[in-house]
Amino acid sequence: MRKKIIAGNWKMNKTPEEAIAYMQKFIPLVKDAKNEIIICAPYIDLAFLVEITKKTNIKIGAQNMHFKESGAYTGEVSGKMLKSIGVEYVIIGHSERRQYFAETDETVNLKIKSAFENDLKPIVCVGETLEEREKGITKDIITNQTEKALEGLTHEQVKNTIIAYEPIWAIGTGKTATAEDANNSIKQIREKIANIYGKDTAEQVIIQYGGSVKPSNAKEIFTMSDIDGGLVGGASLEPEDFNNIVNY
Ligand code: 13P
Repeated sequence: MRKKIIAGNWKMNKTPEEAIAYMQKFIPLVKDAKNEIIICAPYIDLAFLVEITKKTNIKIGAQNMHFKESGAYTGEVSGKMLKSIGVEYVIIGHSERRQYFAETDETVNLKIKSAFENDLKPIVCVGETLEEREKGITKDIITNQTEKALEGLTHEQVKNTIIAYEPIWAIGTGKTATAEDANNSIKQIREKIANIYGKDTAEQVIIQYGGSVKPSNAKEIFTMSDIDGGLVGGASLEPEDFNNIVNY
């Protein structure tokens, strides 16, 4: 059986001081949690968070990385740099990065490959816009994004990729996909992976749901057959709320 992984995406929130204050509350709350916990924080917080979560059950992730190891890319951070400070995960291709920072399926694919080269586990985001949903092309969009993201990876790498299905219209809007709808989309993503990499590989891939997950809806969503946890934005910013999601 696949495990459940609950990841918080703080987005552009929290100074190092605020990040440390959060952890002082959060670490004791979740110390006996059954599910895996990841916090994806701004770059500036990462070294502090790695330090304070050592010897805890909380893993630390970044929210983006460049696909080159080093060079003249002002303002960018590489996978090699993230690894060097003890970061273990990295979100790749979040819809906000695709939308505001011109990420494409091609750069997403390059970043995933670079993440694996640097021994980081990618959390790869896919999801349709409201317009795409209304046109009835959700399945095409999310399965295409998945196929392109995973292109050229080994079976072993695919098994170690976390996919986050995040319908864009559900992010930060308070609207969630129904649990059945989310489960159905995630099944379609898994079927696509099975078609390309085989059923055995597809069955091992962790596929999360993201988009307005809250303490009040986490249980309904996370207990669906194909949903292996979540990627949580706004509700991961308060330790008590995120604890209630982690321990749904
Ligand atoms: P919200 O939980 O705030 O809707 O954000 C979801 C998200 O984008 C997580 O990556």
